[in-house]
Amino acid sequence: MKPLIVGNWKCNPKTAKEAGELFGLIKKGLKNTKKAEVVICPPFFYASSLAATKEIISGSQDCFWEQEGAFTGEISPLMLKNLNCKYVIIGHSERRRHFNETNEMINKKLKAVLEIGLNPILCIGETQEERNKGQTEVILKKQITLGLKNIPASKISSNFVIAYEPVWAVGTGDPCDIDEARKMNLIISKIISDLYNSTVSKKIRILYGGSVNSKNAADYVKKAGLAGLLVGGASLNAQEFIEIVKRSV
Ligand code: PGA
Repeated sequence: MKPLIVGNWKCNPKTAKEAGELFGLIKKGLKNTKKAEVVICPPFFYASSLAATKEIISGSQDCFWEQEGAFTGEISPLMLKNLNCKYVIIGHSERRRHFNETNEMINKKLKAVLEIGLNPILCIGETQEERNKGQTEVILKKQITLGLKNIPASKISSNFVIAYEPVWAVGTGDPCDIDEARKMNLIISKIISDLYNSTVSKKIRILYGGSVNSKNAADYVKKAGLAGLLVGGASLNAQEFIEIVKRSV
């Protein structure tokens, strides 16, 4: 399978014009890169003007758990699907931290996304404090088990993605060590295998995210065996993001 490289623009850039320019530069730079699956997750408001192309698949940074109704401020999985969006990030650490998203809310979102055939990118990861206390595995297990609660194996295809994003590495410039990332990849596979079975575990693609740049990108995919990357800050620099994609294939 091709490596999956996801750009998460977060709450950037400030204008639609800048968003259009950034998208255009990335599209141009990836013209002949057919060996990676590249997804861009822009802010909702820009999404409709940045139509997916053959180089770039459309993604979203979040969504709600109902498909429509009186829920001021929310964007539904159905709306995303109707915009040709294919992937949705669910449970990003910034949403867990700043918006108090719980594993229960994340579970509802995952079910709503799967119900209409969108591909979720479930983010999991421990904080620095949890890591210091040696609780990493327990936290990952809890996030996976509660996040996937009552989701049958039949709903999980190879487009179900889990991103291991240690909170201490996100936006800090302090990426996870390659050996540690390899170990976490195996631990996450084992948790999924115990929860379902090894067939499901082999289907789910596991990405790494947290201070990825063009210098460390290739090692996560080629040495640590991850299925791809979730890139935040570096995806706002077209040249850097293009380089990350090229080095990962
Ligand atoms: P970062 O963010 O690459 O800026 O660390 C990753 C993410 O938030 O997905």
